[in-house]
Amino acid sequence: MPKFRLVKESPEAVACDLLAVAVFKDAKPGPGAAEVATLLGTTLKDLFAAERISGNVGDCAVLSTVGHIAAKRVAFVGLGDKTAVTPFEIRRAGAVVARKAAGAKTVGTLVPAAASGNGTDAARAFAEGFLLGSYKFTRYKKASANGSKPVAVSDVLIAGMAKSAGIDKSLAAAQAVADGTVLARDLTNTPANDKSPVSLAQQARDIAKGTGMTVKVMDEKQLAAKGMNGILGVGRGSPKPPRLIEINYKATGAKKNIAIIGKGITFDSGGINLKTQGLDWMKMDMGGAAAVLGIMKAIAAIKPKVNVTAIICSAENMPGGNALHPGDVLDMYGGKTVEIGNTDAEGRLVMADGLALAAERKKYHYILDMATLTGACMVALGPRCFGVMGNDDGLIQGLLGASKRAGELAWELPLIEDYRKMIDSDIADLKNIGGPYGGAITAGLFLREFIGDHKWAHMDIAGPTKSESDEFEQPKGATGSGVRTVVEWLTSL
Ligand code: BES
Ligand code: MN
Ligand code: ZN
Repeated sequence: MPKFRLVKESPEAVACDLLAVAVFKDAKPGPGAAEVATLLGTTLKDLFAAERISGNVGDCAVLSTVGHIAAKRVAFVGLGDKTAVTPFEIRRAGAVVARKAAGAKTVGTLVPAAASGNGTDAARAFAEGFLLGSYKFTRYKKASANGSKPVAVSDVLIAGMAKSAGIDKSLAAAQAVADGTVLARDLTNTPANDKSPVSLAQQARDIAKGTGMTVKVMDEKQLAAKGMNGILGVGRGSPKPPRLIEINYKATGAKKNIAIIGKGITFDSGGINLKTQGLDWMKMDMGGAAAVLGIMKAIAAIKPKVNVTAIICSAENMPGGNALHPGDVLDMYGGKTVEIGNTDAEGRLVMADGLALAAERKKYHYILDMATLTGACMVALGPRCFGVMGNDDGLIQGLLGASKRAGELAWELPLIEDYRKMIDSDIADLKNIGGPYGGAITAGLFLREFIGDHKWAHMDIAGPTKSESDEFEQPKGATGSGVRTVVEWLTSL
């Protein structure tokens, strides 16, 4: 992971392998851009024409400086409309620069200085984008196969900004959020043959070590003693036993207690209702649990002034001989019975146990859950946006606002009362599937049955947990969706 430092040099004097300067639409220069272009013997207008860029966010022209300035190469990176630059654009530009920095050891930049207003927010956004855009999952690549290990950026020198205590804090927060997101990505990218509910429990212990956070794990015997039949039921078809994992973070002077529950299906085959599509992605069905672990890692460093309890409901959904049958009825924790309409709707079964456990304690101001719950949410919102549902408008708006500041895409879906009857069962209190349409909503309505009268919100992150391609700060593969939004929300409470 690179270190970020503020430097005083003017653009032409920043000694580095790659210097990034900002440009805007209509060939308008950001700080340092016109000066650098002049030293290279050109103008931004000519450079835009020659490099066929127009200054939009994502545009980037990299030129060799052949000794005209101290930097070896320069990246002219687009920020869009000069009058409308926010941390959102700066974060994306940071990620673009990170991908162009392959092979560089030192990177210099004046991009954060291009933001009007709060320089600390801009520096944080650039650092976040840079760290998130540098991500590669290399654990299973053997160095011998491609000769050498890639060069990692060791230093990022931020020029053009005044030093302040605020900037140091912002850069530390960027680092913490990136570390949490990277952990979530690594866990989610890990193949199912190398992960299990037991290994997630070990991850929780590793994260907590030395932080003051405490961890409690319920094994299959304790789950049975307590009647956690959602988690147990889903786990029955797999030789890997299920776990309920709890991590507690306590802040001094905290006025609020928050519970965050994560779906940790380490592989979702569908069970006896075996999936016919998308199985190769289903190692990622613990994206909610991974996000929760990433959030806990990040807040152990950022130390927001709220108490946070993480609850991970983890099982492997497999069609073994002891698996749930379609038509089975589970007597769930919290007292309701559920008829299994489809063993592939397993996420809501494991989450119900975690929600009922949190609700029973009657001490949380807000209960939040994060789950790769439905393909229907992807159909509704596309692959990059998560759905937010819940029973408290303040909480929902808080999360949506946090998602905007964090640079993640989110949208509210309604919990339509008239749809509640779609999850009625003929023989039990509830059925775990609804009708053919509105699947994200009926899944949300199912979860709501287990939270009593608590203030609660549900994030369906099935779409954005994985990406089909590199796009700004999101890499191809696991993205760590939700970590940034929830950390931002927790720090704003
Ligand atoms: N894990 C899936 C949801 C999912 C789908 C996540 C695609 C990521 C990408 C979930 O357990 C599931 O299988 N949901 C079913 C529910 C249906 C059987 C009611 C779905 O969405 O098809
Ligand atoms: Mn499923
Ligand atoms: Zn699932």
